[in-house]
Amino acid sequence: MPDRVEIFEVGPRDGLQNEPRAIPVAEKIALIDLLSGAGFRRIEAASFVRPERVPQMADGAEVLAGIRRAPGLRYAALTPNIRGYDRARAAGADEIAIFASASEGFSRANINASVDESLRRFAPVAVAARADGLPMRGYISCVTDCPYDGPTPPGAVAALAERLLALGCYGISLGDTLGSATPETVGAVLRAVLAVAPPERFAGHFHDTGGRAMANIEVALEAGLRVFDAAVGGLGGCPFARGAPGNVATERVAARLAALGLRTGLDPDRLAEAAGFARRMRGGPSGAGSFA
Ligand code: HMG
Ligand code: MG
Repeated sequence: MPDRVEIFEVGPRDGLQNEPRAIPVAEKIALIDLLSGAGFRRIEAASFVRPERVPQMADGAEVLAGIRRAPGLRYAALTPNIRGYDRARAAGADEIAIFASASEGFSRANINASVDESLRRFAPVAVAARADGLPMRGYISCVTDCPYDGPTPPGAVAALAERLLALGCYGISLGDTLGSATPETVGAVLRAVLAVAPPERFAGHFHDTGGRAMANIEVALEAGLRVFDAAVGGLGGCPFARGAPGNVATERVAARLAALGLRTGLDPDRLAEAAGFARRMRGGPSGAGSFA
């Protein structure tokens, strides 16, 4: 039987959080419902962060209340602190994710905390998630490069991965936040993290800004990783540069994995339909992107 690889769909969260247009709840729900029929096991549907920081995600509870939940599929949400956790749990998230940075500069800019402070905030989230039986994922941002601090030492990523696993994360998603990683820098960070935990505990999360996401995924596949985050239609990117690449596109990853003889369990037709819908969402409210 061909090797199985999971694509963790993050478009409704990581993709949409950057869209400049205020996207109506109904469109977000429609996108998630389309994705739910495509064969994913996990879809990141929302984040429960400060609404003034990420206005696009302010309606996470309404989104989770409105979707048609497919059996066996877990709808995940980002939770930066216990306040976010309580909101996610009340909204019915099936799993949660805490998110840290391997670099101090991005940690401060993204979540207004040093790396140590962020772990202190995550501790009560971990306790609550365990008590409630909710699986908890961990993210590490800036695994190769930080926009503030420059190149990230691989040892810092490995040390943070150990701390997140010790907090109870079932797995760690390694984020190339800037999309500037190369096969060489990805190889170096993988060597460091695989010295502290086996490949089953890691996922690859590559933004495609530099156009190397697919090459980086192939390096991670070689190293034994079997979970990759991706966003349908390549949603995401910079809100101030329309059309700039966002997360690597799910349908592209699925097609490449199939060509490599790897099985994702995704239905290409359903995926294409969801990708078309996602691209129209990016297009905005008029012209080809019209939902009227
Ligand atoms: P803070 O300002 O340090 O929080 O925010 P605070 O504890 O000082 O509280 C200040 C106020 O915020 C209080 O309200 C809190 O109640 C409120 P007040 O009493 O003044 O009226 N507050 C909240 N409200 C709603 N939900 C919450 C929440 N927490 C506090 N959860 C915080 C810290 C992290 C919340 C903030 O900095 C924030 O929201 N940052 C945005 C982070 C974010 O969403 N980033 C994008 C996602 S990460 C990502 O995309 C990377 C990833 O894809 C991987 C990769 O590519 O690298 C995962
Ligand atoms: Mg991301």
